[in-house]
Amino acid sequence: MRVGRSKLPAMLLGAAILIFASCEFADAQTAPQPPDAEIRAAMAWVFPKAHSPDPSAPRLARKPKPEPNEVVRVPGSTQSYTRAQLDADDSIADWFPHDHPSPPRIVMVHRKPGFPLPCADCHMPNGQGDITSPALAGLPREYIVEQLMAFRQGTRSTPLVMTREAQSINDADLDLASSYFSKLAYEPRTRVIETATVPRTHWVDFVLVPNRDGAREPIGERIIETSTDIVSHIVGDYHVENVAWVPPGSIAHGAVIASKGTAKALPCESCHGPALRGVGDTPPLAGRSPTYIVRELIRFRLGQRTNSGAAPMRLEALRLTLKDMIDVAAYAASREP
Ligand code: HEC
Ligand code: HEC
Repeated sequence: MRVGRSKLPAMLLGAAILIFASCEFADAQTAPQPPDAEIRAAMAWVFPKAHSPDPSAPRLARKPKPEPNEVVRVPGSTQSYTRAQLDADDSIADWFPHDHPSPPRIVMVHRKPGFPLPCADCHMPNGQGDITSPALAGLPREYIVEQLMAFRQGTRSTPLVMTREAQSINDADLDLASSYFSKLAYEPRTRVIETATVPRTHWVDFVLVPNRDGAREPIGERIIETSTDIVSHIVGDYHVENVAWVPPGSIAHGAVIASKGTAKALPCESCHGPALRGVGDTPPLAGRSPTYIVRELIRFRLGQRTNSGAAPMRLEALRLTLKDMIDVAAYAASREP
């Protein structure tokens, strides 16, 4: 059922290629920027990778193949699925079907062949997203539709998987999906913690997870967002708590940027509303994944979001340092939606 995960490498490759793509909408003020050293360094943690080795783990000769009849459960759920059901690519596991209204077919079922894939495969059946894919719950309906149009027209250029989703979804399904997600309440499950040091990490299924030996390193100018239970996370358990480690002092400095701006950038609250809860069609930032927030600020800066609605953000992102981005993301993520 985790169809989308296998498509993620393609979309990430797309991201890498498009970073350098030029943009015909560029004007002098908002011209897409080639990634400078600061942004290039951030890409190592901002753009997820499928896998990287844990240098502290013993090398296994070969991973044992999962047994198709193995019954899989996750904590707190009465549902169970066999490994074969989880691996099938026609519908999505839903571990907590009673915590949200019944989703429309486009969200849960893959009408094969090809695209569109069920939205829940990445954004979860209740629209709460996960570390890799943003929450859609509670986004303004108009904003969801506008973004799908931007993906379709290529003015929001990554990830490739969303471009293909947007090109293949029909208007009726887009209507159903956008109404469904916009009506759901967003309930973040990421705890934001300031810390000077973090575990050394490696990538597992597009998420940074601590190395086995427990070694630590300075956080530096980074956000490390991880799952507290990667095994359940991988099978689509959307109740697992996430943790985002952020640099010491980032939340307080981010609060100043949000309410007062910087010497160059406007206060985020002037458009995203008091407490960053969103206003009209301007999306909320409160409680959202801090890594996603930094990722999008970088995308605006690099010219990967050039739809007309993105114009103010392209200017804003050019005026923020990487540290500003991290701090304001830490602050936003720590707020109640
Ligand atoms: C294979 C995974 C995958 C599937 C399936 C998928 N998405 Fe996405 N979607 C993503 C990712 C990843 C992003 C974040 C893009 C980025 O990093 O800029 C995204 C972004 C979005 C956004 C922009 C959110 C924002 O805050 O700006 C919308 C809206 C969206 N998706 C809607 C949908 C809908 C509707 C469907 C089903 C028809 C769907 N997606 C299916 C992975 C997926
Ligand atoms: C002048 C108005 C304005 C200001 C100031 C502003 N924003 Fe935005 N922001 C927008 C609009 C409008 C969008 C939606 C873009 C679109 O429609 O494609 C947006 C989108 C975003 C997104 C993408 C959200 C998503 O779901 O993908 C992020 C992240 C963001 N803003 C962060 C910030 C931060 C951080 C600040 C302050 C440093 C800020 N914005 C200041 C208007 C603004």
